[in-house]
Amino acid sequence: MKKDLKIAIIGSGTMGNGIAHVSSQSGFKTTLVDINKDQLDKALSIINSNLDRQIKKNIISSIDKENTINNIILTTNINDCKDKDLVIEAIPEKYDLKVSLFKQLDSICQKDTIFASNTSSISISNLGNQTKRPDKIIGMHFMNPVPIMKLVEVINTIHTSNETTDQIIELAKAMQKTPVQCNDYPGFVSNRILMPMINEAIFCLEQNVASKEAIDEIMRLGMSHPMGPLQLADFIGLDVCLDIMNVLRIGFNDLKYRPCTLLKTMVSSGLLGKKSGKGFYTYD
Ligand code: NAI
Repeated sequence: MKKDLKIAIIGSGTMGNGIAHVSSQSGFKTTLVDINKDQLDKALSIINSNLDRQIKKNIISSIDKENTINNIILTTNINDCKDKDLVIEAIPEKYDLKVSLFKQLDSICQKDTIFASNTSSISISNLGNQTKRPDKIIGMHFMNPVPIMKLVEVINTIHTSNETTDQIIELAKAMQKTPVQCNDYPGFVSNRILMPMINEAIFCLEQNVASKEAIDEIMRLGMSHPMGPLQLADFIGLDVCLDIMNVLRIGFNDLKYRPCTLLKTMVSSGLLGKKSGKGFYTYD
């Protein structure tokens, strides 16, 4: 892997700003791209406060913080990706949005540039097929919150070259993460297992098997999960959970992945979890 690897991250929301944080902190010149200038400013301020928290905990020095911030370039111009070695996409989990971005990037970037997607569930193969470089398309699924969570799920398609995979594995390690490989199947491994568990917890609540507190406590104490499934769903966002269940349901054409009616009703009522102030629990 080149020491002076130039990285662009598209989308500066929850995941994009976290990926920019670890990328710039690992010494890579990191261009953070968003269509929304205010969102870029917000992302930089979040990175600043997360770095301050790391200083307080003696994880980094103030010089490390300065170097990290100096490695970040903010832009609303997608054409700034043209000289990058790697582009990591972290825009919303909407298939059409991602397809049109991948097509655009394919025409802007050099032919060697690798495109990685941070999608939670959308087919990496479908995204790759929109480009003339399917061998350079890969999933690089970071976990939230990115600066803290160690895992990067690395998703290979049938066309992903070994060279592309090796570079992404090396990069994830350079970012102090633990890459684990899997193949491109709906939900990959993480969400194929996690989301049906969350969905089943919602069925338990709907069928009055137990209260929400009891369901979460049983899973916390009984399975040593750090957080119960209903609370976790609130943190992920109930709309995101529903989107992923729909990807599993359609992708496998199997009724066992049908989203619980209570989940669908809550999403259509605007109860999206922590980000909307109310989901299974209420937030300030
Ligand atoms: P978000 O909604 O917080 O941020 C998305 C950002 O992309 C926004 O700032 C938006 O302005 C920007 N954007 C939209 N279209 C754009 C375009 N064409 N060009 C440039 N910027 C654009 O979304 P979040 O939560 O960060 O999710 C991003 C991706 O990461 C999704 O695919 C999601 O499934 C995945 N993911 C999310 C996790 C989470 O816990 N939130 C965990 C792991 C993966």
